Amino acid sequence: MGIYHIVYYNANNQINFKTIGIFKFIDYILIVSILKIAKLGHPVLLKKTKEINNLSSIDLKKIVFDMSETMIDTNGIGLAAPQVHLTHRIFIYRNPEIEDGEKINISVLLNPVIEKINDETEDDWEGCLSIPGMLGLVRRYKQIKFTALDLSGKKITGEVKGLHARVIQHEFDHLNGILYTSRLAHKNAFGYLEEIEKFWKNNNDKD
Ligand code: NI
Repeated sequence: MGIYHIVYYNANNQINFKTIGIFKFIDYILIVSILKIAKLGHPVLLKKTKEINNLSSIDLKKIVFDMSETMIDTNGIGLAAPQVHLTHRIFIYRNPEIEDGEKINISVLLNPVIEKINDETEDDWEGCLSIPGMLGLVRRYKQIKFTALDLSGKKITGEVKGLHARVIQHEFDHLNGILYTSRLAHKNAFGYLEEIEKFWKNNNDKD
């Protein structure tokens, strides 16, 4: 799959970004900022984002590195532009399936389009950096196809399933102003992490 990855190394207290992909930012020097995350209730989370028409009109590298730093700082596995008050159609996510050891492997999708492969769905618990401390049981398609641009503007496509498909659907929703709370598999399956762990995860009784 041609996803453009940023591999994040954090060794010897130094933060270095390197990439696997079309081009490399080895020793790309910049000051990376941790961005403020918009929380549930902020209207920016409900707005539809705009396509990026001209990739060179914005400093995408800076945006992506700042988003990466912010996501890692908050232990998230995905982050979409509206969550950091940006209006571009861009999201990043970590892909645990291809991470190894100390490396954190971050994928970047610009102007993504997703499509279900069939009608099969799956329910699982999701959290969101914009809804901290809470979890919801969310219904998602099991398998999806996506197309997007990578950071160099090259078209990329892929077919993914399971957690990978779930993360992409969650982040894609953010670009359309949709939060997981509007996709709950069961209207009551939403709450604080501790209570969900206690009353739901060990107990299948959802009534
Ligand atoms: Ni989210």
